[in-house]
Amino acid sequence: MLIAVVLLFWFSLAQGLRRRHVDMIEDGVCGSPKSLTRVTTLLREICCKAVRRMERNRKMRIGGRTAFVAIDESKFRHKRKYGRGRRGNTWRRRSWVFGMMEVKGSRRRPVLKLVENRSRRILHPIILKYVRPGSQIISDCWRAYDRLARDGYIHYQVNHRRYFVHPGNGAHTQHIERAWRSCKENIYRYRGNLSESALKMNLKFIEWNQWLGKEHREGILGRLFKDIRACHKV
Ligand SMILES: *[C@@H]1O[C@H](CO)[C@@H](O)[C@H](O)[C@H]1NC(C)=O
Ligand SMILES: *[C@@H]1O[C@H](CO)[C@@H](O)[C@H](O)[C@H]1NC(C)=O
Repeated sequence: MLIAVVLLFWFSLAQGLRRRHVDMIEDGVCGSPKSLTRVTTLLREICCKAVRRMERNRKMRIGGRTAFVAIDESKFRHKRKYGRGRRGNTWRRRSWVFGMMEVKGSRRRPVLKLVENRSRRILHPIILKYVRPGSQIISDCWRAYDRLARDGYIHYQVNHRRYFVHPGNGAHTQHIERAWRSCKENIYRYRGNLSESALKMNLKFIEWNQWLGKEHREGILGRLFKDIRACHKV
């Protein structure tokens, strides 16, 4: 049973996090989807723990000389369609997801934070904490980002996502924006459960996938087994 669930979980990762499809498979394969969901939740928690460990060890920093960092904030509104008939599962207080994504060759490393609003007071310290000094940051013209150049970052602003205020590099921007868009799609795909804790877990899980799963030499499944073992040692 456990192996089957791990494989199913792994399959869901390989399918690019299509939660709805996985739900369908779970319903078909297993007579008791509830217990199966419990196990996948457990596996996801194991992944989240691994990300927290990495964060505690200060290994979760992005940028540097040879990478771009794209930053963006998105409001994830509660939609009726998904929430009908349920109560108390909206992200009322903290509905902004602030994302910073390192783009380096084909590697993508996102840092995703759930925040109350997108004021400078909230976003600025998060950038300082996670983005290495001197990094090249690409953002829109939202004024919370005004001071990044003063803090020693090389800051490019994209006006209305159509053109660069800074000359040149247009192709590069499109590339980065595509990566960012696909990350956002993954966040949306996971909106089955709209509780704040579930969203947080999903953000961590997306981070796990990019930072740890995809970079393990034996692939996502190899990393998953490693993290399961790490949890059982304690
Ligand atoms: C954003 O959230 C902070 C922290 O809760 C709060 O102090 C500030 O007033 C909020 N700003 C806006 C514009 O809502
Ligand atoms: C949503 O997820 C949270 C935590 O993961 C859980 O406690 C809650 O029961 C879930 N709610 C629904 C409606 O599935």
